[in-house]
Amino acid sequence: MTETANVERSLAVNPRSEEWYARATGLIPGYTQTLAKGPGQYVAGVAPKYLQRGKGAHVWDVDGNEFIDFNMAIGPLSLGYAYDAVDQAIREQLEDGITFSMMHPLEVEVAELVRAVVPNAEMVRYSKTGADVTSAAVRLARAFTRRSKVICCGYHGWHDWYISVTDRHLGVPEPVSALTSSFDYNDMASVNALLDDDTACAILEPMIFDEPREGFLDELKAACHRNGTLLIFDEMWTGFRFALGGAQERFGVQADLMCYSKAIANGMPLAVLAGRADVMRLCEKDVFFFTTFGGEALSLAAAKATIQELRDRRVPDYLARQGRVMREGFNALARDLGMPYTRAIGADCRSLVVFDASAGNPLEMKSLVQQELFARGVLWSGFHNLSFSHTDADVAHALAAYREALIVLKEAVEAGSVREALRGLPVEPVFRRTANPDKRKDGK
Ligand SMILES: Cc1ncc(COP(=O)(O)O)c(C=O)c1O
Repeated sequence: MTETANVERSLAVNPRSEEWYARATGLIPGYTQTLAKGPGQYVAGVAPKYLQRGKGAHVWDVDGNEFIDFNMAIGPLSLGYAYDAVDQAIREQLEDGITFSMMHPLEVEVAELVRAVVPNAEMVRYSKTGADVTSAAVRLARAFTRRSKVICCGYHGWHDWYISVTDRHLGVPEPVSALTSSFDYNDMASVNALLDDDTACAILEPMIFDEPREGFLDELKAACHRNGTLLIFDEMWTGFRFALGGAQERFGVQADLMCYSKAIANGMPLAVLAGRADVMRLCEKDVFFFTTFGGEALSLAAAKATIQELRDRRVPDYLARQGRVMREGFNALARDLGMPYTRAIGADCRSLVVFDASAGNPLEMKSLVQQELFARGVLWSGFHNLSFSHTDADVAHALAAYREALIVLKEAVEAGSVREALRGLPVEPVFRRTANPDKRKDGK
């Protein structure tokens, strides 16, 4: 990819994307199957909307424009697009069949692999989506404890029990939403205010972008267990990425149940529920968690190849190394350019660029940076989701693009003209979490 070719590319010309968008209008509600991939996350009138293909860390949109992708399908592509070892495993399995009338040996093989690399994965079950396994974990916890309430922290999927704590909860009956409350990360007081003798489980993303403060995860586990409550780690983002054994390995804390998806099969739809055998065993009879495609073999073949590749090539170390260069590189640029109102935060392998409201509207600032990055061949919506295919050249290209984009932002911030510098509509927030303070024991 040449720098000039990308800069010369007209910002607003994505005719094929716009044609597909017009065809979807009135046909697909909200246009997208996942908000994070949808039109609201990209500057309308500037960014493309539909991608056609990918290879490594690069994608091509339907108009043939090439970008280095820092979203990587919102997490699944831990190795990269069209990654040979995984695609070969899928092709070989395809020759033999996709889904069968009886069980398939891959169900056993992948479970053995998961047990070998994930701490405390005494038993393993599969499903297709992250929401499937977080919901199964919650049901198991309710069955094991014979309790009803759930406390949560993070995003856990579209199902009733979770989405009731957000502002997109229409359709969830009140008696269901009354059973879930959210607590604040790194804040034991907010946990203790919610735990009571009907709390079945605490489910959380062990780390989103803030590091757990010293002792937080241990204190949370101890408080849960003192209360007879199970601890569930939603490792959708941390699993197979922070370390092969995810956040449990990285932070040295074991949960009762763990949920995985995203990075485990390099883009194929697979989710894994794992954990303590005495809890998981309830799935043998009393807890019903079965689905037609749970043992679908192409995804399991992909998972087997992906986990082996992640393990043998020490991929989590690579993601951390490249991701550190991105996060620290961004922060060095912001410092050098005198822009204290923006920084990259989060883990090495996955960081997020944030903008302070003190300098203007954060969504407009993000939109301007996005607009300028797209013009320089970088697909970006605030994240640095690294894959094994992000080369040194990709990272160097992105940092060079950041320098130019940040200079544009700085000038606009100083002139008070960020909105005017946008050639399209700013990006939107996904949804807001509501804190449910009324459900806390002390009513505060
Ligand atoms: C932490 C976390 N949990 C659960 C989910 C839900 O997964 P899915 O969209 O596969 O249902 C997501 C999805 O982004 C997630 O990030």
